[in-house]
This record gives sequence, C-alpha cells and structure tokens, in this order.
Amino acid sequence: MEKKIMYSAVQPSGNLTIGNYVGTIRNWTRYQEEYDCFFAMADMHAITVRQDPADLRRRTLELAALYLACGVDPNKCALYVQSRIPQHAELCWVLNTLTYVGEMERMTQFKDKSAKHADNINMGLMDYPVLMAADILLYQSDLVPVGIDQTQHVEITRDIAVRFNNRYGETFRVPQALIQKQGAKIMSLQDPLKKMSKSDENLNASVFLSDDKDTIIRKFKRAVTDSDSRIVASAEKPGVTNLLTIYASFAGITVEEAEKQFEGRGYGEFKLAVGERVAETLAPVQAEQKRLLADKGYLASALQAGAERAYKAARKTLSKVHRKIGFYLGE
Ligand code: TYM
Repeated sequence: MEKKIMYSAVQPSGNLTIGNYVGTIRNWTRYQEEYDCFFAMADMHAITVRQDPADLRRRTLELAALYLACGVDPNKCALYVQSRIPQHAELCWVLNTLTYVGEMERMTQFKDKSAKHADNINMGLMDYPVLMAADILLYQSDLVPVGIDQTQHVEITRDIAVRFNNRYGETFRVPQALIQKQGAKIMSLQDPLKKMSKSDENLNASVFLSDDKDTIIRKFKRAVTDSDSRIVASAEKPGVTNLLTIYASFAGITVEEAEKQFEGRGYGEFKLAVGERVAETLAPVQAEQKRLLADKGYLASALQAGAERAYKAARKTLSKVHRKIGFYLGE
C-alpha cells in the first residue's frame, strides 16, 4: 500500500520553545517510520515579520540541526529549506486568486500579528496562510501534524484545495491536521491563558530548547500557579494544568498519571521535578544539535538531498496545476 504523505514546517523566526517541541517536532521521528514525510524550515514565512538577515540564515541551519538532533532521519524524509523550492511561491500565486481578502482578514494569527507589528502589516503577513496552503498542497499531503494554533490555517488550506478541485477538476488531495491529544497547546509559564510563544517579550514565559539546566529550573520555579496548593488539572487551575501537561509530555505519561505521582506534594517540589525532567530530556538533544552544527558539510548535503526530493514532487504538482488552469506550456 502507498504510504500517506505528511507535511510540516517550523519558522526559523526565533528561539524554539518546548511548545514547538512537544506540540509537533518530537513526534516526527515516529511519523517518519509510517509516512512519506516532508519537513521544512519555513524561512519564507519567517520574513513576514522583520528578520535580521544573518540571524535568519543562522537560525535556519540551527533549526535543521535541531530536527536532526530530535531524530529526524534525512534518509527517511525530505528535510529542506522552503525558499530553495521556487514552486512554493508559484503555487501561492495561483492559490491567491482563489482566496478572498475577507477570509484572510479574519485569520486569528493575522489579527494577532497585525496588532503586534502595527508598523509592518505587509502583504506577506496577510498572505501567510495561502503560502502555507501552497506548502501543504504542493506535496499532495494527507496529514499535517501541528499544534492547535495552526488548525485554522490547515482548515483554510482544505477550503482552498476543495475550491480548486471544484473549479478545475480533481487536482489536490485534501489534507487533514494531525493534532495530538496531549501537549498540542503548551501555555506561557507567566500567563497560562496565553500560548507559549517564541516571540514573548517576557523571557520567563517561555522555556527555550536552547536553555541550560539552571535557566530551565529557574523559569519553572517562577511559573505562575495559584493559591490553593493541590496539584490537579482543572479549568480553574490553568497554571498547574499546564505544568502537569508539560511534565506528562516529557515523561511520556498521561496527565492523570502525573497527578497521581504528585498527589500530596508541594508546589516547590513539583516545579523542581518538572524543570529537572525537561532539562534531562533536552540535554542530549542540545548536545547533538551542537555536534551537528559543527559539521556544516553534513548539514548542507542533507539539505541538498531533501531539496532535490522536494523539488521533484513540487514540480510534478505545479505542472499539473498550470495545465489545469490553462497556462500555455509550450509545444
Ligand atoms: P511555528 O513556527 O509558529 O510553530 C511550529 C509548530 O509548533 C507548534 N506550536 C505549539 N504547539 C504546542 N504548544 C505551543 N505553545 C506551540 N507553539 C507553536 C505550531 O502549531 C507548529 O506546529 N505556520 C507554521 C509553519 C508552517 C507550516 C507550514 C506548518 C509553514 N508552512 C505547513 C505546517 C504545514 C508556524 O508558524 O509554525
């Protein structure tokens, strides 16, 4: 039986957090055994907010090394940098003509980012979901593993795919978001009603994958909880629920199991245990990422192989699209 196709990407737009890790990246190792996977560094998405060029290039490579350090195997999947494949932008242009301005204005992330970058509400920021649709549809993807915050973008991708298929005939597979039950939305340690984010100004709000053990433990110690000291997950205790979710996700257990483990313990002990567990899991990933970053030749060849594989698949879909919409293709 033909393997299902999986697509996912992360923006090299800042320091990655444990939300990115738990929400999606760490699962890719498992998925690559089962699916035909394309994993990208979404640098074209990243430039929709201002990036320092040298930082962007460095972060792109750091992100590639991180994927590999987490266990992504470049022989099993296509690991590549989005901007190396021109078909993403080309398909985005075509899909733009099937997408309405009103739909884009209603996107939650667009509204949030417009508020945050009020001096730079550029066309790319608004077009971001269409580029993401192009990423996904270009590879005829079936599954898109993402965190909860990206589900709206996968929904609009489905709408655009169906719209295209209805107008021009069956062309795209209609993909589905793959959201895990636990850890699909890790919250800020300082405001547990807000998503943990790469770009939070409060550095204590997010645990970065590059943080050392002391920093990780300090951030968890300062995490917001509440006055009642029971360690249980509930809507009234979002801070404790978030810490339990983080602990459970890193320990590979359920939140209920974590609750049992900490029954009758105090917050101090609990927070320390969460910090230690996270630091312990990240240490080997950090060491491997560092080792890989010292081997630029290996990284370049892995990314080159990934780009070649992606290019072949992308070219196939794009020529089909061009044929369907009536572009002149030469003799
Ligand atoms: P990005 O770079 O913001 O985030 C990368 C992935 O991490 C997930 N995530 C989280 N999961 C759980 N808890 C959190 N606090 C948390 N924060 C982030 C995101 O849901 C995402 O899965 N637009 C995408 C990148 C992208 C993409 C694509 C993804 C570009 N093209 C095509 C899938 C398919 C983004 O900005 O992710």
